[in-house]
Amino acid sequence: MTARTWHGRVFIGVSLDGYIARRDGSLDWLTDPPGGRDHVAVPSTVPALEWDTFYPDVDHLVMGRGTYEKVLTFDGWPYPDKQVLVLSTTLAGDDERVQVVRTLEEAVAALDGAGAEQVYVDGGQVVQAFLAAGLVDELTVGVAPVLIGEGLPLFGALPADVLLELRANHVSDSGMVHTTYRVSRPGAATVEEEAARWPRSPSSPARCAQTESAPRSRTGSCRRA
Ligand SMILES: NC(=O)c1ccc[n+]([C@@H]2O[C@H](COP(=O)([O-])OP(=O)(O)OC[C@H]3O[C@@H](n4cnc5c(N)ncnc54)[C@H](OP(=O)(O)O)[C@@H]3O)[C@@H](O)[C@H]2O)c1
Repeated sequence: MTARTWHGRVFIGVSLDGYIARRDGSLDWLTDPPGGRDHVAVPSTVPALEWDTFYPDVDHLVMGRGTYEKVLTFDGWPYPDKQVLVLSTTLAGDDERVQVVRTLEEAVAALDGAGAEQVYVDGGQVVQAFLAAGLVDELTVGVAPVLIGEGLPLFGALPADVLLELRANHVSDSGMVHTTYRVSRPGAATVEEEAARWPRSPSSPARCAQTESAPRSRTGSCRRA
């Protein structure tokens, strides 16, 4: 097997009790949280990635059928400028905006073959599969201030512990706690080397204030409650 040349990157919202959607797939608790709650403002000098500092760097998305079917209910196709792969054993594959792949191995081969560099990995089962296979390098998780009791889990079983290095963290006005982690690997670049190579890294200043009026992320980054 040749060395992987792309970065697998997760950017996702989750309830404090670990769910990315209710059992029926609904996201109301994340996208339209009830207001009227008084969240303390916690300052941070190293803010986590936000939609505007994460998404533009992505060239490919890989998502599961569950996430794809949810995206189809949104107004318009949100990824016109990206190559999108959908993992599914059941989809017909007749949507020309996406490439359907049947296995994780097929997804990896497609990404390798396409010269992918920055891959946004999305969907609970797909994130779990990529993590278990060692294909995730970075995770940005927005933890919503709510317990929903049951739902579709973000994380699951792993063949071994995945050690993470904290990279950045901030709290949004809606009480979401956003954290960026890098998956720890022997010999990986230091924080300083990473920041020098990649100016958009989480060490860069936050641009949240510029985007609060136009939230674009499902995860509620930079939106006011
Ligand atoms: N909170 C957030 O930020 C966030 C982000 C993304 C998604 N979501 C929500 O999460 C829900 C979907 O999540 P989900 O847990 O159902 O997971 P998902 O990963 O989006 O979709 C699961 C489906 O993907 C296919 N799949 C996954 N791994 C596969 C593999 N290794 N090989 C072949 N096919 C594979 C399977 O489809 P087949 O059954 O067709 O084989 C599986 O049923 C949606 O409601 C979505 O809105 C929330």
